[in-house]
Amino acid sequence: MNNEPYYISTSIPYVNGEPHLGHAMEFVLADVIARYHKQYGRDVFFSTGTDEHGGKIMESAEKAGQSFEAFTTQNSQHFKDLAAQLEVNYTKFIRTSDPDHEARSALIWQALGEHIYKSSYVGMYDQKEESFLTHEEAREIQKTDATRYATFKELEEENYFFKLSAFNVPLIELIKSDKLKVIPNARKNEVLSFLESGLQDISVSRPADKISWGIPVPGDPKQTMYVWFEALMNYITTLGYPNGPDYARFWPANVQVVGKDITRFHAVIWPAMLMALGIETPKVLYVHGFINDANGEIMSKSKGNGVAPSEIISEYGSDAFRYFITRHIPSGEDGNFSWERFETVYNTELCNELGNLVQRVVSMINSYEGGVIGNLPESMHDIAPYHDFFEDYRFDLALDYVWTLVRGLNQYIEEEKPWQIAKTEDKEHLQVILAYVVSSLLQVADLIQPVLPHTSAEIIKTFGEGAIHPEAGHLFPRINKYTQPGKQ
Ligand code: MSP
Repeated sequence: MNNEPYYISTSIPYVNGEPHLGHAMEFVLADVIARYHKQYGRDVFFSTGTDEHGGKIMESAEKAGQSFEAFTTQNSQHFKDLAAQLEVNYTKFIRTSDPDHEARSALIWQALGEHIYKSSYVGMYDQKEESFLTHEEAREIQKTDATRYATFKELEEENYFFKLSAFNVPLIELIKSDKLKVIPNARKNEVLSFLESGLQDISVSRPADKISWGIPVPGDPKQTMYVWFEALMNYITTLGYPNGPDYARFWPANVQVVGKDITRFHAVIWPAMLMALGIETPKVLYVHGFINDANGEIMSKSKGNGVAPSEIISEYGSDAFRYFITRHIPSGEDGNFSWERFETVYNTELCNELGNLVQRVVSMINSYEGGVIGNLPESMHDIAPYHDFFEDYRFDLALDYVWTLVRGLNQYIEEEKPWQIAKTEDKEHLQVILAYVVSSLLQVADLIQPVLPHTSAEIIKTFGEGAIHPEAGHLFPRINKYTQPGKQ
């Protein structure tokens, strides 16, 4: 046990629409990591929040006929609600429209000093991604996606630039040496090859007459900070940069969790900003993949294949949702969701393998031993591989490993046949067998705690006090809404 500080963040989603499965996935992964470290004694600061400025959100608010403030407040609340539904225990939820973030971002801008200069920008702007594109980059997209290209705006405007090019060599060194470790390795290589192709300075403001919903550039109210530039700053403004006690205690971040589409912002622009400020860079950037539908297509409402996370959670519970995301979307890669797949996993692994095991053990101890568990032996399982997988950000493999224990216990019961021993006089042997299973189940409860907090607490409540605690019913009642009974 050590209570060293541990800082973890998620990216901050845009509030132009409803939270979707991708957002839920990022919340869950970060929460699993946060709970894991809390469990072993770390003092965890877990930050999340919402990204609320910029043209995309202005347009959505206007379409909805609402003020920017009302629109962003309402939508930001939906992300908080989702976090609550998912049992995501963040320490702080930052909104980029918070006056505190605005004031601290202005301080950061000023601290960047000579790294920012004024010039004129000629190029394209992709409002959907809130990103500046060169004509060449835009033409590349046009070749494969003419519809998207049609939404790009031609820009010719005065704005401020950040001297990103000055950090090209230090960034290569930073990433290559793993001083900022980009996980998985495929993402690290991608970043390195991008860096090796050479960096240009980037625009970091927009004229205020075009983008009024944002943070004014200090000393030049005719310019608004570029939404990405100030959004990235949230990772330190939320800690109270430059002088807050949380900043002193928790920075640099131990890990920042982001999706693959925003790797460059976090592995290139953000560390360069930090270097320009002369402050430390995060230790790890963990990049997760995308969650797609059963055909590998990105899920979205407009495609008609979108599923609201709340629909799944209300049907199967938050633990089951967290479990599916953590084990069945391969860590660091893309994965698929379908109702059938979800329900099959739920029935096979949670209902049959774990839930039924707990029920069986409860009923055997109740009927053969009057509910008394007796002395517990030490559990003998080697759990080092589980911790190694966690340290490697392979949460899927960590759970696979726990499930080898769960399956092993089911098999042990089948082989030992306590119901036969119960018919003999060998009560001691029976007690030893059942106590061994209970001790292993308590160990399983510990190991699943970051992912399945309710289930873990239920198992501990049931077996943790020497006698069976009255059960609250099956942990995962069978559901056959999308699959045939008996199919799993
Ligand atoms: N506002 C920016 C992030 C700023 S961080 C300083 C943004 N917002 S977003 O709403 O578009 O995306 C938020 C997160 O959700 C990103 O990490 C993104 O990769 C993730 N996902 C969006 N769609 C996703 C899936 N379909 N699957 C998994 N995650 C995906 O980018």
